[in-house]
Amino acid sequence: MTLSLIWAQARGGVIGRDGDIPWHVPEDQANFRRLTRGCAVIMGRATWDSLPERFRPLPDRVNVVITRDPSWKADGAVVAHTARQARELAGDGDVWVIGGGAVYAEYLPAADQLVVTEVDLDPAGDTYAPETGPGWAPDAGDWLESRTGIRYRFITYRRR
Ligand SMILES: NC(=O)c1ccc[n+]([C@@H]2O[C@H](COP(=O)([O-])OP(=O)(O)OC[C@H]3O[C@@H](n4cnc5c(N)ncnc54)[C@H](OP(=O)(O)O)[C@@H]3O)[C@@H](O)[C@H]2O)c1
Repeated sequence: MTLSLIWAQARGGVIGRDGDIPWHVPEDQANFRRLTRGCAVIMGRATWDSLPERFRPLPDRVNVVITRDPSWKADGAVVAHTARQARELAGDGDVWVIGGGAVYAEYLPAADQLVVTEVDLDPAGDTYAPETGPGWAPDAGDWLESRTGIRYRFITYRRR
């Protein structure tokens, strides 16, 4: 089993603004679906809230949601109250941590790989990707152009 973090970030590291992602790259969303389908995903309660209602729970995935609120529940969400409990509830298969900023930072020390989409934009934001640091070796793909006109590339980080 592999524990992976997956996110999309702008050039300055922004991943979110006002509870949403400040760009739209459909090819990145398709890549996200392809990689995470059939696996468990772990997300913070704010990221769950950010998903459009028609997309949650994310289909064909165990949706584990972390919250400190003991009364929180939602149809299709497996509720956890600590990062460790979330990991246990996610099971023994491949697990993807899908955000947001607080949750990426918590799982980074335990992650096997980071799957990052870099978008060639510099928007204002209020939520940031975690610092990867020198312990991670990047393997960057070529820049691609979305049908929306936004340039993006996939970067996989593995531990050195
Ligand atoms: N670009 C991307 O790839 C990407 C991916 C995902 C999300 N996002 C964006 O990121 C933003 C949301 O991220 P965020 O950092 O604000 O929030 P978040 O990480 O999604 O959720 C934070 C919440 O998760 C719960 N939580 C976190 N750690 C916990 C712990 N150890 N134990 C128990 N509960 C814990 C708490 O919920 P309670 O408050 O309920 O206690 C906390 O308020 C949105 O703008 C979203 O669109 C971007």
